[in-house]
Amino acid sequence: MDHISSHLACDLPLNGVSEDMDLLHIDVEAEVVDTKPGRDEALCSKNVLRKQRHWEKQIAAKKSRRKEEKQRRKQNREEESASTAEIPHFTKRVMKAITRERLIGAQATGLKLCVDLSMTDSMSDKEISRLAGQLRRLYGSNRKASRPFHLFLTDLKEGSRLYKECLRMNDGFLNYMMDVTDGSFLSLFSTETIVYLTPDAESALETVEADRVYVLGGLVDESIQKKLSLSRARELSVCTARLPIDEYMVKKNNPKNFYSKILAINQVFDILLKFCNTGSWTEALQMWFPQGKGYVVAQEAS
Ligand SMILES: C[S@@+](CC[C@H](N)C(=O)[O-])C[C@H]1O[C@@H](n2cnc3c(N)ncnc32)[C@H](O)[C@@H]1O
Repeated sequence: MDHISSHLACDLPLNGVSEDMDLLHIDVEAEVVDTKPGRDEALCSKNVLRKQRHWEKQIAAKKSRRKEEKQRRKQNREEESASTAEIPHFTKRVMKAITRERLIGAQATGLKLCVDLSMTDSMSDKEISRLAGQLRRLYGSNRKASRPFHLFLTDLKEGSRLYKECLRMNDGFLNYMMDVTDGSFLSLFSTETIVYLTPDAESALETVEADRVYVLGGLVDESIQKKLSLSRARELSVCTARLPIDEYMVKKNNPKNFYSKILAINQVFDILLKFCNTGSWTEALQMWFPQGKGYVVAQEAS
């Protein structure tokens, strides 16, 4: 059924340590070794201890990176709202009314962004949970934007794992001001208007246009499913584009030699929002490209 309903956001904390353990794919139980007497036992427990210390270090490092990224996002948001001179002294009630008006306006004339949720079947419960969190952050960013997008969630089936997780994790999900349908985005938009954003596209996104619909793949890359969104876009014969990372960013020295251009949907959306506000990819990437991905904005571009 193609019901399109209008759906308010609130951030909930993520689980801490157990989530980190999962992230590192640590099977704590697997480390419980059969007890053998004497030297073997001592060797085993030494190894277990060493591994445990190694995990603990990794978990601590990961936590600290997350904390830094969270602080950076918070600081960015504070700087952004400080720069919107109209807001400072409005009461919460007035701000809520302004936000609502803006979102209503966006539903009439805003730039369009859709999250394609058709690929969730192959995702684990943890990935589904992450995706629900990313949808909440994406919506939260849209609410705070001075010129929000008209948002669409497509292929979201009532009663599905993602739907239930959105209800569980995202306060007021049913009142989010966005269009939600259990049908495909192809039933809403004509093929020629669609630009499927995928990190594996050949062409870089140059600009964001009012007569186009930008589609994000509702995927969380924990068990990395390479090129899934590119394949889907190709199957549907729709245009694809990637963020212009190669054009505006360079690799930075990083001891782990870790480089990734694959972002979470809310991170891509923050970059798009900033680009639409400033017309500058440099500014958008500088502000919202996550620091832990190994890239920085090129000097000459900034
Ligand atoms: C975590 S990524 C999924 C990556 C996944 N391996 C895939 O098949 O695309 C979730 C979505 O965010 C968007 N995305 C992430 N990084 C992007 C980039 N560098 N350029 C364009 N879109 C990106 C894409 O829409 C992608 O489907």
